Amino acid sequence: MRDSDLIAAARDARTFARAEFSKFKVGAALETADGTIVTGCNIENVTRGLTMCAERVAMFKALSEGHRAFRRIAVAVNAKAPVPPCGPCRQILWEFGGDLEVILANLRRETGRHRLSDLLPQPFDAQLLK
Ligand code: THU
Repeated sequence: MRDSDLIAAARDARTFARAEFSKFKVGAALETADGTIVTGCNIENVTRGLTMCAERVAMFKALSEGHRAFRRIAVAVNAKAPVPPCGPCRQILWEFGGDLEVILANLRRETGRHRLSDLLPQPFDAQLLK
């Protein structure tokens, strides 16, 4: 799958965002090891505190559908500056996705590209419980 397909899927998912409070819509597209794309958008609610980011929606959807191995995630926003995943999303993506490639984009172009291990150095994960 081309990078542009994954980014396009993230942009499409963004249109479903429930961002009535922040007005900041985010879309994510997670590529599984078998090439399936699972998308997510951010979902806010009136308590604010129960907000779920687009990246975690995508990952939780994928896990709940039985996917277990992942390659890349694209995140799309309407902003000039690159918008990388927040701390809690980095943790969840790391635990369930491993060292994913993270592709950042806005509505016009790619804005950044990282390995998750660069965004989350020295992670806390299950290895440390052994
Ligand atoms: N948000 C995401 O969905 N993903 C990110 O990577 C950054 C932040 C959402 C959470 C909230 O709904 C809105 O963007 C503003 O923080």
